[in-house]
Amino acid sequence: MKLIVVAGARPNFIKIAPLVPALIAAGHDAAIAHTGQHYDAAMSDVFFRDLEIPEPRWFLNVGSGTHAVQTGKAMMALEELFESERPDAVIVVGDVNSTLAGALAASKLHLSVIHLEAGLRSFDMLMPEEINRLVADQLSTLHLTPTREAGDNLIREGVEPERIVFVGNIMAESVVRHLPLVEDRAPGRDFGLEPGGYALATVHRPENTDVAERLANIARALADLPVPVLFPVHPRTRARMEELLGGSDRVMLVDPVGYLDMLALQRDAAVIVTDSGGVQEESCMVHTPCVTVRRNTERGITCEVGANRLAPADADAIRAAVDEALAAPRDWPVPERWDGQVSERIVEALANGIPPLRGA
Ligand code: UD1
Ligand code: UDP
Repeated sequence: MKLIVVAGARPNFIKIAPLVPALIAAGHDAAIAHTGQHYDAAMSDVFFRDLEIPEPRWFLNVGSGTHAVQTGKAMMALEELFESERPDAVIVVGDVNSTLAGALAASKLHLSVIHLEAGLRSFDMLMPEEINRLVADQLSTLHLTPTREAGDNLIREGVEPERIVFVGNIMAESVVRHLPLVEDRAPGRDFGLEPGGYALATVHRPENTDVAERLANIARALADLPVPVLFPVHPRTRARMEELLGGSDRVMLVDPVGYLDMLALQRDAAVIVTDSGGVQEESCMVHTPCVTVRRNTERGITCEVGANRLAPADADAIRAAVDEALAAPRDWPVPERWDGQVSERIVEALANGIPPLRGA
């Protein structure tokens, strides 16, 4: 089959890393369209290198902008591409604006849309990703889900069971494949941090970064943790965080790191404080306890198994959750089908055929 895989932002790259080589090995003509939503070397190129992702066939240079500008530009560029290439299907992954643009542009051209990581729900419409997930799933012809709960969500929303395939978590496959490659890495040492002796933090969601009081609470909580904190900062968070921390020697703000270093940093951390979707899943895989600074999560399964807990953006609540995380046992079970066979199951699902568009 001729397949176009749309990717644009950091978490997309991790998801397509195991997928695209598996599709090509199965004989598909699968090629990547990079929308350019993320463009800094540390937010894009490093992942293609670290994860040996095939070079994108198309770069669409969409760049930053408001949601409508970014999504609209990506739709315009993707529409032109899909029209000239007429693929058998378009694969979109995750929940970023590039995912939404890919699903919209493809479905308007009557192309089949396959959504990988379908069915996750936070039930929080203040989250841009929830809107992207809901729309992408309504437009998709085939839904590849990471958990059984995701399939249940889709069925509740009226998706026919024959369109849903529980393939497992593709982020987990990236972890399984790359963890052995970082056995000898301890990137924390470059910052004077020993394995087990630091917290790792990432914060980039608008609900935290764009509300001054919440970001200040998070900064205060990090500066008061019982262990030093390494914080690779997303570009949207950097300026405000630097101002708030005012040279605290407890929190080290560093540039975003590559995937392999990030994996090793997560494995070696005593605890992780994050609002990232992917990091919630990876911390679960590497058995490092996680505190998620959000009011809800679409990755509820990580809390259910005992790997993750939620804390609102309040200094005392974050501290209490970190203390609980540090004291909790680390032998939680990894969720079902969060393993190294996810891309294999996707290839199998495609071999069984893509259900036709509704009404076609
Ligand atoms: C996007 C996704 C979010 C995901 C995150 C992963 C949407 C709605 N949000 O959020 O789900 O968790 O990516 O990292 O799609 N910027 C740079 N360099 C870059 C990219 C961005 O400096 O390479 C800065 C720009 O100032 C930009 C801002 O970051 O305006 C936000 O970028 P954008 O892609 O719009 O959203 P993210 O916050 O990265
Ligand atoms: N990540 C990384 N370097 C960093 C921060 C994150 O490699 O400095 C990886 C992280 O390990 C995970 C992915 O980026 O694989 C998650 O992306 P992000 O947190 O930006 O987005 P989300 O998952 O929240 O949508």
